[in-house]
Amino acid sequence: MEQSGWKAAVVTLSDKGYAGEREDKSGPLLCKMLEEEGYDVTEHLLLPDDQKQIEKCLCTLCDEKRNNLILTTGGTGFAPRDCTPEATLAVGERNVPGIAEAMRSASMKITPRAMLSRGVSVIRGNTLIINLPGSPKAAKENLEAVLPALGHGLEILSGSGGECAVPLKENQ
Ligand code: MTE
Repeated sequence: MEQSGWKAAVVTLSDKGYAGEREDKSGPLLCKMLEEEGYDVTEHLLLPDDQKQIEKCLCTLCDEKRNNLILTTGGTGFAPRDCTPEATLAVGERNVPGIAEAMRSASMKITPRAMLSRGVSVIRGNTLIINLPGSPKAAKENLEAVLPALGHGLEILSGSGGECAVPLKENQ
């Protein structure tokens, strides 16, 4: 396992998951993917699709818990209660459109339904927040598209790096 040392949190947004009516498979899968890349997954939370609760949770994970990265899964689609992008934009200070663009672009090669995710990515303080869709398949495919580039972004964001002259390895 690589050691990145970055602190990361995963938040699953699902009314059904929160009510115990559906098993959350995406959250544990994302935690595993991050751990395999050497991230220190500090917590995995499960919340309903409630914008204010999501905003409060994201602020705590950024401002108090000082995570470097937060992945959300679920609530990015067209269902009336899907509000993850709205909550994320409400707490974000800077937009990071390239991450959402890269995920949709890679996902469009897999399914045209990729365009139905409204997920966004933002920076709040020293934390990067990325919205992923809710199904385990979609969450995995989206994260795989951006994971190789995240470490470099986190280095720049935390002030611990920023040297872009280092040659990229293949797929980075
Ligand atoms: N992206 C990938 N890579 N693979 C998928 O199967 N599913 C899409 C899309 N993004 C999908 C994907 C579908 S069907 C929907 S409705 C949206 O993500 C939103 O998902 P969410 O409402 O679970 O967040």
